[in-house]
Amino acid sequence: MDDIKSSLQIQPLGWWVRSNGCGELNLEHEDREVCLMGWVQYRRDHGGLIFIDLRDRDGLTQVVFTPELNAQALEEAHALRSEYVIAVRGVVRQRPKDMVNPNLRTGDIEVAVREFKLLNRSKTPPFLIEDRVEAAENLRLKYRYLDLRRPIMAKNLLLRSQVVHEIRAHLQASGFVEVETPVLTRSTPEGARDFLVPSRLSPGHFFALPQSPQLFKQLLMCAGLDRYYQVVKCFRDEDLRADRQPEFTQVDMELSFVEEEGVMSEAENMIAGLFKEVLGVQLEIPFLRLNYVQAVADYGLDRPDVRFDLKLKDVTDVVRRSGFNLFAKAEMVKAMRVPGGGELSRKEIDDYTNFVSIYGAKGLAWIKVKDNEWQSPIAKFLSDAERSDLTRVLNLEPGDIVFFQAASPEVVNNSLGYLRLKLAHRFKLIPENTFAPIWIMDFPLLEWDADQKRWNARHHPFTAPKDGHMELLEKNPGEVLARAYDMVINGQEVGGGSIRIHTRADQERMFAALGIDKHEAEDKFGFLLQALEQGAPPHGGIAFGLDRLIMLMAGCSSIRDVIAFPKTQKAACLTTEAPAGVAPRQLRELGIRLREQEKVLDN
Ligand code: AMO
Ligand code: AMP
Repeated sequence: MDDIKSSLQIQPLGWWVRSNGCGELNLEHEDREVCLMGWVQYRRDHGGLIFIDLRDRDGLTQVVFTPELNAQALEEAHALRSEYVIAVRGVVRQRPKDMVNPNLRTGDIEVAVREFKLLNRSKTPPFLIEDRVEAAENLRLKYRYLDLRRPIMAKNLLLRSQVVHEIRAHLQASGFVEVETPVLTRSTPEGARDFLVPSRLSPGHFFALPQSPQLFKQLLMCAGLDRYYQVVKCFRDEDLRADRQPEFTQVDMELSFVEEEGVMSEAENMIAGLFKEVLGVQLEIPFLRLNYVQAVADYGLDRPDVRFDLKLKDVTDVVRRSGFNLFAKAEMVKAMRVPGGGELSRKEIDDYTNFVSIYGAKGLAWIKVKDNEWQSPIAKFLSDAERSDLTRVLNLEPGDIVFFQAASPEVVNNSLGYLRLKLAHRFKLIPENTFAPIWIMDFPLLEWDADQKRWNARHHPFTAPKDGHMELLEKNPGEVLARAYDMVINGQEVGGGSIRIHTRADQERMFAALGIDKHEAEDKFGFLLQALEQGAPPHGGIAFGLDRLIMLMAGCSSIRDVIAFPKTQKAACLTTEAPAGVAPRQLRELGIRLREQEKVLDN
């Protein structure tokens, strides 16, 4: 390699001290002597001059090597390559008019080099360090330290740091105390699988990593801490998606002597304060509220994006006597009218039909409303009376398209709910840079697990039923509503919490409803049950998904973009290649033998 042979040597920093960041300098600094350090983004040779874009986490500065200021440095600069680390000393000067870059914060100036030092070389990086990156995500994750040099990624991490700072400042000022809770603990049921850690000192016994600090924060309320918070890692072994990681961060809170309003107003104040401080966005307080049944009825999903309309309409009764058998016989039929949707092509409609099949839909009926006719594969099945009923109920107008789904409520709501989001993008219905926070309330406390044939807690088993609903627990579990609330912003569930059960008797009753017998309850949650009979105050709380909040604030579509070292779909860390095998000795110490080893031993 020519640069290795070149005379340019790596030098120690010595007494050189950085005066500014690479995103900082502008015309106010003209004629100032500065010292910058960073990475070579580009080198451009221009007959007798060399330009370098120097990058650090704050930005880019154009650095120019000239024969007038230092001819030898100019000569040596030929050896500089992308991602070399250098320090330059020079003078800030105005760029010639035709070289001003209005897209760059430092675009009015450049630094003319008096002297420079090579601090380190770099191999050619496996991908270009630029905001627009073509590289596959796996490659980016393997070389995450290079990926994080991309300005957009650095910006996300800076935003994250600022958000956490604001949250802590806000909660400290509001009388919350940050308490750390154990990571090696017992299972905290939040509906996912546990990550287990074997104990060397108690062979055959395992810690579970916390799915949340739920039980500890309740114990802290029993301890009289009154207002607790923690920025805390949680661990859940579940199927991963764009908004889910196996380890993620919660902003976890718990308050004593409060009801729903007490928790919700604290949470709103914190979120509104955060958006104001960090993004300069004013969120209107109090946030809108919608009950669960209404949310699912109107939007299909329990985390509705309410930035745009496109509501679903239940037309089960309207088509009950339809000549179209599918409609007449279906458990539920819902319609979604899309004004102006008549322009959709057959290909697009076919794609949407494929899309809804992900959610179990067997097809997707549609009607395009023209001036004097309906264009539709199902029009021939519909009587004149039915047509006029649908026109009236759905307010149909020429130019519209209406989609129908006929199936079980779950399939109908999911397929149209997600189709609604897709159509909003297609028709650009989502206003940019708006945030629409909403509370979803009055969730069912329990949900039926058809596989296991038992009731599960929708939230977690410590959530209190609505006043007067305790009696329904045994009689009609499906009817019991929870004192729970979810905060949803732009269709993302960013937080969820509840008022808790705070007496032993009620907690035991809840366990019984979940099919957890006295023995199991004592074994798994005995410490909580005891605490609840030692003067537990009424309490409740909420936890926010910090990664999701930051993803929203940063305008990203995956939480992986706001986590420094995220895991892949298969829950692996490509940077460190975790998880990894361990030495047989380590397993022996833990009293563990792997099936694979057994096979080897058996053979
Ligand atoms: P919940 O399970 O709703 O409540 O979690 C709270 C919030 O955490 C975020 N979240 C996740 N983010 C990224 N990856 C995941 N795998 C993941 N799972 C959850 C969501 C969610 O709203 N102990 C209760 C809170 C309480 O009752 O106070 C709890 O953990 O944004
Ligand atoms: P078919 O009679 O199977 O040709 O279906 C007629 C139309 O109904 C087609 O446009 C299908 O996509 C649509 N369709 C089929 N099943 C459903 C369903 N469960 N809900 C809504 N539309 C459906």
